[in-house]
Amino acid sequence: MHMEIKPASSMQGELTVPGDKSISHRAVMLGAIAEGKTHVTGFLPGADCLSTIDSFRKLGIEIEHEGTTVTVKGKGLDGLRAPTSVLNVGNSGTTMRLLSGILSGQSFQAVLDGDASIRKRPMKRIITPLSAMGAEIFGHDGTECAPLSITGSRLHGISYASPVASAQVKSCILLAGLYADGETTVTEPALSRDHTERMLSACGAVLKVDGLSVTVQPRPRLIAQNVVVPGDISSAAYFIAAALLVPGSEVRIKNVGINPTRDGILKVAAAMGAEIEYQNRREASGEPVADLLVRTAPLHGTRIAGDLIPTLIDELPVIAVMAACAEGETEIRDAAELKVKETDRIATVVQNLQAVGIEAEPLADGMVIRGGRIRGGEIEAFGDHRIAMAFAVAGLASKEGVKIKGAEAVSVSYPSFFADLAGL
Ligand code: S3P
Repeated sequence: MHMEIKPASSMQGELTVPGDKSISHRAVMLGAIAEGKTHVTGFLPGADCLSTIDSFRKLGIEIEHEGTTVTVKGKGLDGLRAPTSVLNVGNSGTTMRLLSGILSGQSFQAVLDGDASIRKRPMKRIITPLSAMGAEIFGHDGTECAPLSITGSRLHGISYASPVASAQVKSCILLAGLYADGETTVTEPALSRDHTERMLSACGAVLKVDGLSVTVQPRPRLIAQNVVVPGDISSAAYFIAAALLVPGSEVRIKNVGINPTRDGILKVAAAMGAEIEYQNRREASGEPVADLLVRTAPLHGTRIAGDLIPTLIDELPVIAVMAACAEGETEIRDAAELKVKETDRIATVVQNLQAVGIEAEPLADGMVIRGGRIRGGEIEAFGDHRIAMAFAVAGLASKEGVKIKGAEAVSVSYPSFFADLAGL
């Protein structure tokens, strides 16, 4: 599908973005291995989270799903049963990596597969720690890539220093740790999103967080908790950027999750000169939430690096578009993880920025963007939802508009993205 995004004159109004993708996945996963019914509201019905529902149904869990409401009939830690077919995670790295942790501690065999993008993504980062715990997990044909074959086995608790700041790796190990014979500790180089820790604790697991380390005790009795999923800050990011960049805009984005392990885009926007107002701060299911009022502001370049990176990793494509419209240069460093996302986002962002008339240079661990005026042109989403949405924002802020090839990719995390954009 091609989508043509014309330059916008001003954006006004309010919207509620869809539920958080990370929290939606976890609500289904923990709901499945908890005892009792988990009722989820605000669930994200994007393709990725539907892959999680589909996989747990194949593992014998009864799940009712209608729109943004999901009910999971949990069967406890040992209630999953052997699937009779391959578990297909589609495009979802979160499903593949977190589910691998759970499957490693079962008493049956399963195979996890997905689309062409997922088959290229690195799974060594979970195979190494899971194998150290005693798991039998193998990649396709001697590789460390999907399809993954996992034969459940007795797991041992380990203390693991992860070389990457990745919530998928951390969560995978913590979930496997639930099935281990002793405590399991994960230490990461910088703090990644902590939704798994928050939700596991709420369900009754015993967790101890100490700086960058988290320890889980094995074999907890997990008790089902209802989950109210906040709006996804990673989806709000496109509207934050659009309202900042399109002249004369004022947009209120309601019910946005502002967990400090996810709010890096708000810090970067402030550093670039934006004044975003937080309204109606509250908490939902153990996660901080607020409404965000965003008005157009002149932005200037900045440097984004270090511990901030994991808190905005998925927002870097749209932050790059903000940088393209800012005065001066923006440098993004310490973000080599971008290369192993749904696409190599250093390459796909830089190539597309150049295609719309912006000077940008790839680095081994980031990029440099020279701010100017986006001319417009044709870009390719490369099957990556976040590239499609980031460059829709570029189109709104451009002189001549942007044509997006492969715009249907948005359905992975935000099926109603273009309709919501048009609404403003
Ligand atoms: C996610 C963690 C991040 C993020 C992804 C969702 C999660 O990936 O990019 O979109 O839900 O745990 P990594 O753990 O690979 O950094």
